[in-house]
Amino acid sequence: DFTKYGIDPVHGFLPVNPPPLTRLPAAFEAWEKVLDVLQPLLLAGKLRHAIDQLPLLDVNEFTCLREWQRAYTVLCFLGQGYVWGKPEDPSEVLPMAIAKPWYEVARYLRLKPVISYAAVELFNYRLLDPNGPWDLSNLSVMHVFTGLDEAWFYLISIAIEATGARAIPAITDAMHAVLANEPSVIANSLDVMAAVIDESIALLMRNYEKNDPHIFYHRLRPYLSGWENSAELPRGLFYEGDLPALAAGEPKGTFRKYAGASAGQSSLIHCIDIALGVQHLPTRSAGCTFSGNTAPASSPASAVCPPPTNHIHEMRRYMPGEHRDFVYALERGPSIRNFVLAALARDTRTPEEERMIAAYNHCADRMRAFRDRHLQIVAAYIIVQARRKREMGIGADAQRERAQQSLTARGTGGTDLVPFLKQSRNETAEVLTTHQ
Ligand code: HEM
Ligand code: ALA
Repeated sequence: DFTKYGIDPVHGFLPVNPPPLTRLPAAFEAWEKVLDVLQPLLLAGKLRHAIDQLPLLDVNEFTCLREWQRAYTVLCFLGQGYVWGKPEDPSEVLPMAIAKPWYEVARYLRLKPVISYAAVELFNYRLLDPNGPWDLSNLSVMHVFTGLDEAWFYLISIAIEATGARAIPAITDAMHAVLANEPSVIANSLDVMAAVIDESIALLMRNYEKNDPHIFYHRLRPYLSGWENSAELPRGLFYEGDLPALAAGEPKGTFRKYAGASAGQSSLIHCIDIALGVQHLPTRSAGCTFSGNTAPASSPASAVCPPPTNHIHEMRRYMPGEHRDFVYALERGPSIRNFVLAALARDTRTPEEERMIAAYNHCADRMRAFRDRHLQIVAAYIIVQARRKREMGIGADAQRERAQQSLTARGTGGTDLVPFLKQSRNETAEVLTTHQ
């Protein structure tokens, strides 16, 4: 039963019936009015001033899930704009009129009060023609910080969610087929997943058409950043309003650290990894060569190395709660990979089993290819842009330089991006069985 996890059998993790709201009830007009003029306010350097004038509104007036979801997206755009709207001068403190409702809405949805994939992708999509196709010819986004390049960047992920939705029932079918010992059903499911991954690769590469790497890197990325492992906000963000802890170990009324948005928070990709049995392990920060969880006291790294973190698993904390529940439920399901390996270990196999093994290897290879292409995109959109900026000496003043360095070394999701992504790619390649 997908619906209890907030999943649509046809459109997957995208909310449908009803689709995302385009406006909150009248009581929240004050927020909507600021969002209406987000870009002019950002350009004029006046967003912070406008948000400072907002009244404290009561989130208990929301009456349905779509209102909570829209409120979360609205507050993500306002909150991120408040913090990063003046790149040379990020705000370390968030006023109560935005901090408190953002926190409360995030708690309701079991998200975090920080921008996420759900805020800009899942809850932010719209169909141009409500009866038209769910692809790039008919999908649109409601809100952006900057402009068309950003909209295209979001649309690609939304199109991947839309086309990838059919992988979800394919995966649960395959898991049932493990219990029912039906290798041909598993082979069919793996073929569906491989087709979804191939379409995702094609969509990923379409970024080049309308998302200019320069604009992405210089204009958009700062807004997608969070405040974990952040050089600009080393202490995190102070949420005013004396708010209770959201998670264990988070004292109330203090600085909080949350990672920014990343497609690594897409539940779809987690589901595919689980179906293939890809194991993601913790990643150590670059330059931290010691083994074990803590650096020896003599190591110069000891002062700067955070403990190795399983970023992919961490990203699940930034999924809507019901989607996260689904990911965990899937993880407890029967192992498709073990079923494939068991067939492989036998001396004789049925033709269906042979087909299943080939389908498994093909699918795993496509997922590895996705991560290879993704690394190429990261090189073009982040690494090359950062190098050019250094070479051209743009933004030579110290503050900007620092901000830039941290965005190069870290993804907006707070990871040490290149080692992290390479490890993830290698972990995907590892599941390939030796059978050809
Ligand atoms: C992670 C960049 C598009 C899927 C990441 C990370 C970066 C990044 C830097 C590291 C995490 C972090 O932010 O700290 C980009 C760029 C893109 C792009 C520059 C396009 C211009 C996409 C798209 C998808 C995607 C369209 C597909 C839904 C992922 C996944 C991860 C990730 C699944 C987690 C790592 C993994 O599972 O291997 N991305 N990304 N990315 N991205 Fe992207
Ligand atoms: N997570 C992507 C980045 O770091 C958006 O740029």
